[in-house]
Amino acid sequence: MMVLPARRLAAELGSWRTVGPAYAALADRIRLLTLDGRIPLGTRLPAERELAAQLTVSRTLVAAAYARLRSAGYLESTRGSGSVVTMPGRGAAPQDDGGAAVVLDFSKAALPAAPQVGEAAARASRELPAYLNGNGYDPLGLPRLRQALADRYSARGLPTRPGQIMVTLGAQHAISLLARTLMGRSDTALVEAPSYPHAYEALKSAGRRLVPVAVDAHRGWDEDGLEQAFRRTRPALAYVMPDFHNPTGAVMPAAQRARLMAAATREGTVVIADETMAELTIDGRSELPLAAHGPAVLTGSMGKTVWGGLRIGWIRG
Ligand SMILES: Cc1ncc(COP(=O)(O)O)c(C=O)c1O
Repeated sequence: MMVLPARRLAAELGSWRTVGPAYAALADRIRLLTLDGRIPLGTRLPAERELAAQLTVSRTLVAAAYARLRSAGYLESTRGSGSVVTMPGRGAAPQDDGGAAVVLDFSKAALPAAPQVGEAAARASRELPAYLNGNGYDPLGLPRLRQALADRYSARGLPTRPGQIMVTLGAQHAISLLARTLMGRSDTALVEAPSYPHAYEALKSAGRRLVPVAVDAHRGWDEDGLEQAFRRTRPALAYVMPDFHNPTGAVMPAAQRARLMAAATREGTVVIADETMAELTIDGRSELPLAAHGPAVLTGSMGKTVWGGLRIGWIRG
């Protein structure tokens, strides 16, 4: 379990006070940090006394903030293991109230499978006997699937050969493999803040430190921050999401993609672009993949476009 020290939480909280009761403002700020992924689910918050000392407020105030988060479903407290960050209704299926309103579960950004997924699975299982004569071990993935994925990139304007594709067990697997392969224990990774929290975990466990660069739903990427972070820290790896960034939805403009790749190339940084969200465009418009602007490694997944249970992802090198 990740334990968040009081000093780190205080730094993340920044200037949290607003008009209105301080305990509500503190609870609200912690809730926002949880929703945007800066406090990953399952993190243990500091003990009330420690956080109170760090923020120079009374313990009663922190206790009231934690109680508010608990009653809203953002915190679970058990004797002996402290207060752990969670989401309201986590694990519960979307519920129908029997009438017009359906409760959508936003704790996971994914929908149930379309009916075509079941039909395609039935067709695929009829083709299985053709594969059973082989040994079934294929470290790079089925040639047919690699060809289909390569063709999809080519259709998006990025010519790709099947030899550039490796199939993985979802994008999370791809990110972990890349982090462990490309980072040493003393290496730094540049990441966006906020970002997909499980990528933080994979990168943190492979390297030494994460360098955050801000992304904002309205203003997009902090361009100066990006340039400075590359220059100052010369990261071994940068993990970015230029297309429908999770959770802000921001899309990086083409010119900024070119500048990002130029800065990374100058510092010898390998850029990983997570394209899990890239094909979720609503109006059909999309930018050319980051790898069209320089040697970025792309990862993708069928988790959001088809179904999360499919466990098919890939790396494009
Ligand atoms: C941005 C992003 N990357 C990667 C993943 C993990 O994808 P997969 O389910 O294919 O492992 C997710 C899942 O939510 C995601 O949102």
